Amino acid sequence: MSIQRLSPELVNQIAAGEIIERPASVLKELLENALDAGARAIRVDLEAGGKSLIRVRDDGRGMTPEDLVLAVASHATSKIGTLDDLEHIATLGFRGEALASIASVATMRVTSRTEGASHGHGLTVEKAAEPVPAPHPIGTSVEVRDLFHRVPARRKFLRTERTELRHLQELVRRVALGRPEVGFELTHNGRALMQLPALPAEDAGQRVTALMGEAFAEAALQVDVEGAGMRLRGWLGLPTAARGQPDLQYVYLNGRMIRDRLVTQALRRAYADVLFKDRFPTYLLHLQVDPAQVDVNVHPTKHEVRFRESGLVFDFIQRQVGQALAHAGAAAPAGMPNSGPPVSVPMATPSGSSSHWRSAPLPLGAPDERPTASAPALPLAEATQLYGQEQMPRLGEAIAQIHGVYILAESSNGLVLVDMHAAHERIVYERLKRQYAQATIARQPLLVPVAVAVTPAEADRAEEGQALLEAVGLEVDRAGPEQLRVRSVPALLADADPEALLRDALAKLDEGAAGRAVESRVAQLLGTMGCHGSVRANRRLTSAEQTALLREMEQTPNIDQCNHGRPTWVELSTADLDRLFLRGR
Ligand SMILES: Nc1ncnc2c1ncn2[C@@H]1O[C@H](COP(=O)(O)OP(=O)(O)O)[C@@H](O)[C@H]1O
Ligand SMILES: [Mg+2]
Repeated sequence: MSIQRLSPELVNQIAAGEIIERPASVLKELLENALDAGARAIRVDLEAGGKSLIRVRDDGRGMTPEDLVLAVASHATSKIGTLDDLEHIATLGFRGEALASIASVATMRVTSRTEGASHGHGLTVEKAAEPVPAPHPIGTSVEVRDLFHRVPARRKFLRTERTELRHLQELVRRVALGRPEVGFELTHNGRALMQLPALPAEDAGQRVTALMGEAFAEAALQVDVEGAGMRLRGWLGLPTAARGQPDLQYVYLNGRMIRDRLVTQALRRAYADVLFKDRFPTYLLHLQVDPAQVDVNVHPTKHEVRFRESGLVFDFIQRQVGQALAHAGAAAPAGMPNSGPPVSVPMATPSGSSSHWRSAPLPLGAPDERPTASAPALPLAEATQLYGQEQMPRLGEAIAQIHGVYILAESSNGLVLVDMHAAHERIVYERLKRQYAQATIARQPLLVPVAVAVTPAEADRAEEGQALLEAVGLEVDRAGPEQLRVRSVPALLADADPEALLRDALAKLDEGAAGRAVESRVAQLLGTMGCHGSVRANRRLTSAEQTALLREMEQTPNIDQCNHGRPTWVELSTADLDRLFLRGR
């Protein structure tokens, strides 16, 4: 075939291939247009999973008949005019090709009316179509019918009505979560699926509760921090709200929903300290960055972005979120409605637990249910400050050690149970981190160096990682092709088994070590080593030791969870006790 120019229609169909993958991608473009037009109320009607109809009606500024014609033409946009504009994009759209692309793969009708116009105009997109007068309130409706009917190859890729609807609903959730000030309504085959009223800024939490669920709302920490020319605000799920899949993670950059690896990684890193490895944190965050610092023109769907100063953004997110989690409670949980008393963190039920007052999650707002020991209402670090010096310490007085595992204490609220091992693990880890930060992990030389038989590969790894090991207090040298010698261990871990310490450290050195930042590898090493220093289960503690552990806990950051994300203490209040015994009824 000789070279020919493609017809404009084919050009649009090819362009559509990039952005219009399924009904949800059409809806995304239409919703973004409505938001860019300043809509305060948006209604979405769908039929057959969006395959036969997607209709979006908004009350935004609308279009004149002349603009209607341009709107559906390719490369026509009101949002940018110059290259310079492209560098400071504040709208969701800017490519000027969504409507034209959609019209090339479906039947599209746009009806619109601007303020001051006596009536609206409608345009059915076909060759040489003209806008004709049509009734419409101020705003715009875009109707997309029979998606891909002219592109059978793509139609084949559409999934069942249910699957497409799931994608459509998730999209509306994402958009609506990012814009609580806009009302959303969604119907499918004439049935109402979502009805979200527009909310004033101070009630934004209601949208979060409605869409992310009560469980998230109850264990979420509100943040609003600024620094380095950026602002981060939103909600961070506490470790107890973590999930088995990454489905409750929402990030908006300057109002645009994004799925960005850099941001996700920074958040993972921030949560790494308080979360089990295979758990996924939950969050809803708005990041505001000077638009000139971001390139959103990386990919046609604009999910990915490029930060000009990516290191700065990464550090900002990791540090701010890490700190917020560490002082958890500092800002909690204002603006979160329906969550009853301040942050109640429903405790994950420990598996295999048969104890009856632990067996159900805390029945919030259901006072007749059986009481449950629950993780603390306020993170310990903060509660301790509130309680001050003169009163009884937050964790109270140790009474007994139970089954060699738990410490029972009487607090001014009721009963406290502490998992000794979990708590101690966190204490040791935080001490190690503090020492490391001050570049002074104290080493304890071993009287007799301990020889450890290893594989040649492990020995190599230890040699390569020698500086890292020394930084965390482990002095190791090679005694032969398959032998290492531990010369000193961190003083905090003087009682630990040097060989076990080394083996765990070697395993950590191996794990995805390549390319990881030193800091995060150090944190991993310290976390692993922390376990070795902690009190073994079944060790008898004197009553002075028990009390000392409680007091130490009160001073330790992140103490509410152990290094693996398990709770370290729970409380049963006197009110819970009364209910257990049916007192005062
Ligand atoms: N719902 C709407 N309300 C008002 N104007 C709209 C609406 N949808 C589209 N437009 C106009 O049509 C133009 C083209 O839209 P689109 O093809 O999505 O490109 P882009 O959003 O990238 O500019 C927009 O720039 C805007 O001026
Ligand atoms: Mg657009």
